[in-house]
Amino acid sequence: MKTAVIGCSQLVTLAGPPRPRTGPELRDLAIIPDGALLIEDGRIAQVGPRSAIAASIDSDCKVIDAGNRVVMPGFVDAHTHPVFASNRAAEFEQRASGKTYAEIAAAGGGIRSTVRQTRAATEDDLLAAAQKYVRWFLQNGTTTIEAKSGYGLTLQDECKLLRVIAQLQPLRTVPTFLGAHEIPDEYRARKADYIRLVIHEMLPAASPQAEYCDVFCEPTVFSVEDSREILSAARALGLGLRIHADQLSNSGASALAAELGAATADHLEHIDPRGILALKAARVQPVLLPGSVYALGSTRYPPARDMIDAGLALVLATDFNPGSSPTPSLPMILSLACTQMKMTPAEAITAATFNAACSLNRAQEIGSLEPGKLADFAVHDCADYREIPYFFGIQSPRAVFIGGRCVSGEC
Ligand code: NIG
Ligand code: FE
Repeated sequence: MKTAVIGCSQLVTLAGPPRPRTGPELRDLAIIPDGALLIEDGRIAQVGPRSAIAASIDSDCKVIDAGNRVVMPGFVDAHTHPVFASNRAAEFEQRASGKTYAEIAAAGGGIRSTVRQTRAATEDDLLAAAQKYVRWFLQNGTTTIEAKSGYGLTLQDECKLLRVIAQLQPLRTVPTFLGAHEIPDEYRARKADYIRLVIHEMLPAASPQAEYCDVFCEPTVFSVEDSREILSAARALGLGLRIHADQLSNSGASALAAELGAATADHLEHIDPRGILALKAARVQPVLLPGSVYALGSTRYPPARDMIDAGLALVLATDFNPGSSPTPSLPMILSLACTQMKMTPAEAITAATFNAACSLNRAQEIGSLEPGKLADFAVHDCADYREIPYFFGIQSPRAVFIGGRCVSGEC
């Protein structure tokens, strides 16, 4: 079965070296004006100007006319927490009335309140809720998400969340075990016992279901020493590593990410120049999450320009979760990246597609439109890619495709 996509005002391919892009490379989207794609069996067979593809379009080839719109790779969202019960709109109201995220967490709310509700929910209920968020991701042009557990915090409940993640469709998912997301209510006075449970029971059970392990490394939650112990055990089981690092304070979590050879260090609102150098030396990719800065009403965005200048291979992600970042929209994140962190639209797009795919060890399959790769792409309702972060609060994609199949929008 062959499909041709024509009428692309700009075919944003991101073709280029098969490794994370840095420095000026971040601005090179390898755009083909009036470009076209040929898809066979869910994969990209040919990419080029329309005139070059025309000869391959025969009578049994289905033709999709993008109508003079931007066609680009599906977004790859490399940091999400999509499986949880209920939501925290009530805490949102409290924050609007002056309480802080940390105060609410210290009083037993925050992550722990979502954990209580998620433990009480059935697998079916969690799947139904998460499928609604899957539709939101697709509607916003995302075709792959990294999906963390972390609202169960018992052996059974963490496994329940990983099973839900495995059932999400048609979005592609990369599962991450986040048993060390918080210290649950019943272990508040004995954190060491909880860490033992994570290492000796949860990790061995979760590791066949997960590709990565993550830890919320923060002095009030898991210290650098705690995080080192958990992540080293995860690495010994063959999992890749990601770390919630330097989000609420500078605790040396970036240096830990470098020391352990983590794939990513995520958040980094409080990283210092030494942390940036450490990430660079160890080739750790920073995953910046400006949605959580925005939604918490802070103005302390991570120093994206310093990181680009230092040669880091930036990634942008939503951090979709019920507390600090309730948005599934990468176009919204691109807008924040450009307005608040002074990234250019092209840099932001590279960070949310190809570089994100690299951070998930998926650069061979997704993140750019090149022959041999999966046909995961979106038709955005604009003629110039810069309109994607420029207009905000709209739904930019008109149609979204995974493996060459239309999964959202006007198919
Ligand atoms: O990435 N910092 C830890 N985890 C999430 C927040 C989760 C929540 O508030 O439910 C984050 O911001
Ligand atoms: Fe997060």
